[in-house]
Amino acid sequence: MKKKFEKINRVSGKLNLTGDKSVSHRAVIFSAMASGKSTITNLSQGQDVISTMVIMHKLGASILTKEKKIIIGGMGYKGFKVPSSNLDCGNSGTSARLIAGLLAAQNFNSTLIGDESLSKRPMKRVIEPLITMGTEFKSNENLTLPLTIIPKSNLHPIDFEMSVASAQVKSSILIAGLHCEEETNVIENEQTRDHTEKMLGLPVRFENGKIISSSSIKYYPEALEYFVPGDISNSAFHIVLTLLTSNSELIIKNVSLNPTRTGFIEVLKQMGANILFSDIKTSSNEEYGDVIVKSSQLTNVKMDSQIIPNIIDEIPILSIAGVFASGDFEITNAKELRVKESDRINSICANLKLLGLLVEESEGGFSISGSIKNINPVFESFGDHRIAMSFAILSMLLDNGGEVNGFECVNISNPQFENQINKIVS
Ligand code: S3P
Repeated sequence: MKKKFEKINRVSGKLNLTGDKSVSHRAVIFSAMASGKSTITNLSQGQDVISTMVIMHKLGASILTKEKKIIIGGMGYKGFKVPSSNLDCGNSGTSARLIAGLLAAQNFNSTLIGDESLSKRPMKRVIEPLITMGTEFKSNENLTLPLTIIPKSNLHPIDFEMSVASAQVKSSILIAGLHCEEETNVIENEQTRDHTEKMLGLPVRFENGKIISSSSIKYYPEALEYFVPGDISNSAFHIVLTLLTSNSELIIKNVSLNPTRTGFIEVLKQMGANILFSDIKTSSNEEYGDVIVKSSQLTNVKMDSQIIPNIIDEIPILSIAGVFASGDFEITNAKELRVKESDRINSICANLKLLGLLVEESEGGFSISGSIKNINPVFESFGDHRIAMSFAILSMLLDNGGEVNGFECVNISNPQFENQINKIVS
């Protein structure tokens, strides 16, 4: 579906966003693992989280919607049922990797499948540590989905030092580790999002510049009441639109402010953005609060490589801010972008080149300079929700607007995107 986005002159008002995607996946998985009923308020409405819910249901968990709350009847420790068919993760890497860790600890075989994009994404990164814990796998020579998980006897705990900065891999191992008496330790050199640790109350220690997170049966989830704060990654689109339109001010209520996710706000502030947090609260150990944004003049800055895992999902929209900021925009050390829902380095660069900007691509990033020459662009989403929303925002900043092909993929994380934009523009 090709969608036209008109120029937007001003943003104002207040927004409530649906629940954070990362926290939502975990709330659903931990509720299904627990024994008894959990309730989840403000769950993400995106297709990715629906994929996780359908899989948990196929494994036996009951799922009910009541007055905007989701009630999940969990199956308890190793209580999951043998699924009657393959488990479809759709487009969702988080579903595939986290659930692989859970299935590695059951006493039945199961097969994870996914859509075309997910079936190209690397699974070796979870297969290898889970093999060390004692599970077997059947896959193809590329070690991608479909992936059959063949648990052997009981899992054994491991100490695992991460070679890629990935919260999905860390979480997969920690979830498997919840099925062992002794501690499993995951060692990170660069901090990635820590929702799994926070929501399960896992011990985390910092030693010689490394971050060590541990899990064991002691931390197996119990039935809880979860409130999922608004999606911070989705807020990035509204934040950048507000910053770049004049006389604008936006308040985004109750949005996730977990410090392992707010890196893009730090970067925007360094660029000169007027962004404040207020009314900070906590739920399931997760910080959330209101974000207040005002129009600002931005200047590009150099980003430290340590911040890349924290901003990995927001690099597409940060690069749009970079186009309108003074100076040249540059991203380095972000090779992981190549194995997201699309090759995001390629997707961003291809779309920016359509504008006549000077774009230089490298293995781990890209740089942008020059000025916009084409004023009637038709961008490609590459089937990637964050690329679709980023270039919708860019279109809203062009005098003649712009179009995005394949915009329907926005449903993966934020089916409410257009409604939210309509509420805040004038
Ligand atoms: C996620 C972790 C990140 C992120 C993804 C969600 C999570 O992936 O890109 O959108 O919920 O753990 P990696 O951990 O593979 O970088």
